Amino acid sequence: MRNPGEELEDAAAQYASEAIKLDSQGNYAGAVVKYQNAVEALLKLIRLYPDNPVNKLYYEKAMAYQERIKALQRLRGVYSPSDGDRPPQQDEDGNIRVAPMVETVKATFEELLVTEKPNVSTKDVVGLDDAKLALRQAIVYPYQRPDLFPLGWPRGILLFGPPGCGKTMLAAAVASEIDGYFLSVDAASIMSKWLGDAEKNVAKLFAYARGLAESKPVVIFIDEVDSLLTVHRQEVGGETRVRNQFLKEMDGLSDKGKNLQLYVLAATNKPWTLDEPFLRRYQKRIYVQPPDKDTRKLLFEKYTEPLILDSDIDMEELAKLTEGYSASDIRDICQDAQLRVVTELFESGKANDPESKPRPIKMKDFKEIVKQRRPSLIAERVKLYEKWNEMYSAV
Ligand SMILES: Nc1ncnc2c1ncn2[C@@H]1O[C@H](COP(=O)(O)OP(=O)(O)OP(=O)(O)O)[C@@H](O)[C@H]1O
Ligand SMILES: [Mg+2]
Repeated sequence: MRNPGEELEDAAAQYASEAIKLDSQGNYAGAVVKYQNAVEALLKLIRLYPDNPVNKLYYEKAMAYQERIKALQRLRGVYSPSDGDRPPQQDEDGNIRVAPMVETVKATFEELLVTEKPNVSTKDVVGLDDAKLALRQAIVYPYQRPDLFPLGWPRGILLFGPPGCGKTMLAAAVASEIDGYFLSVDAASIMSKWLGDAEKNVAKLFAYARGLAESKPVVIFIDEVDSLLTVHRQEVGGETRVRNQFLKEMDGLSDKGKNLQLYVLAATNKPWTLDEPFLRRYQKRIYVQPPDKDTRKLLFEKYTEPLILDSDIDMEELAKLTEGYSASDIRDICQDAQLRVVTELFESGKANDPESKPRPIKMKDFKEIVKQRRPSLIAERVKLYEKWNEMYSAV
């Protein structure tokens, strides 16, 4: 399956390369049209996927093309020497020449790496005690006392499990437990056409991390790691090269980088797309499972904590009603409940009074909301994760 937006991204890249080609051939009218198409496609991408880390780059590209469009349009418009502009140059045939398009934006891959520590702690992650322990063993303890690990420690740690149950959140929480660098990058950015050769990006990522690891421990976090292997690009063989580079870098960590404190944490909700050689490099494979009844209760408690509840609320009952709902579903249900009472307040016209408060949320509200919302975890799917867990988990 193609990632959402991938088609649009491909279209944008195509327009841009056609524009640059026409531009270099002196077909300015044609180039302007293509630049405009590229700009539109880029802006649309940003609108559709506001959280995409590549957006900064898209934006800069779009602005650069916009500038170019303006420059070309000025050329075609009336040129008057009094403007102070330099006269356009003409070649022997009298055709107008302008300076060639310069790619002013040199976004580097490193710029896209998020090095900022996320503001989440393991305490915010509800349940998942086994997964938390496995992460402490794999990362936090070796980090604190490398001297206690004469045989080394695993370099590759894979978090797998269904969507919305805390993989990304857990990875972020680990970062807050160590005083080191946390380099977060999603596989889609590595594969982005706009950042040059994906294979080189992988090499750059690891080289950069190795450099940092000389002074402080480094965790590289690769979210949605499956897309490194399964992205379908027109470029034949692109995926395999990226994958091989990735495997090579992982191997490098266990020989050359023996003394470096460098960990590779990866997350996926499609573990079955990963093959044996890939898995072999992830000695730790941790199942981030859907919340059981007790955990769902804790989730409801956590997410209703800042809300005003009626005394009829029965958390145990809510937990029972939400079999198959992910942690993220439960957060959304609580958000919906609050939205419901707040909407009532606004609709009644009383919200103008700054002292006014919404009515307490009742059990009935939750029941209705749950009924209207399908659980995002399908039992059959969950079985697949469990089966994969039985076969491949390693903690
Ligand atoms: N165990 C949890 N405790 C508390 N909140 C959670 C938990 N799991 C998920 N959430 C909530 O759901 C949101 C989404 O979770 P997260 O991004 O970690 O899911 P994921 O497992 O990475 O899913 P995906 O496979 O779709 O990437 C979190 O930002 C958080 O608000
Ligand atoms: Mg995630």
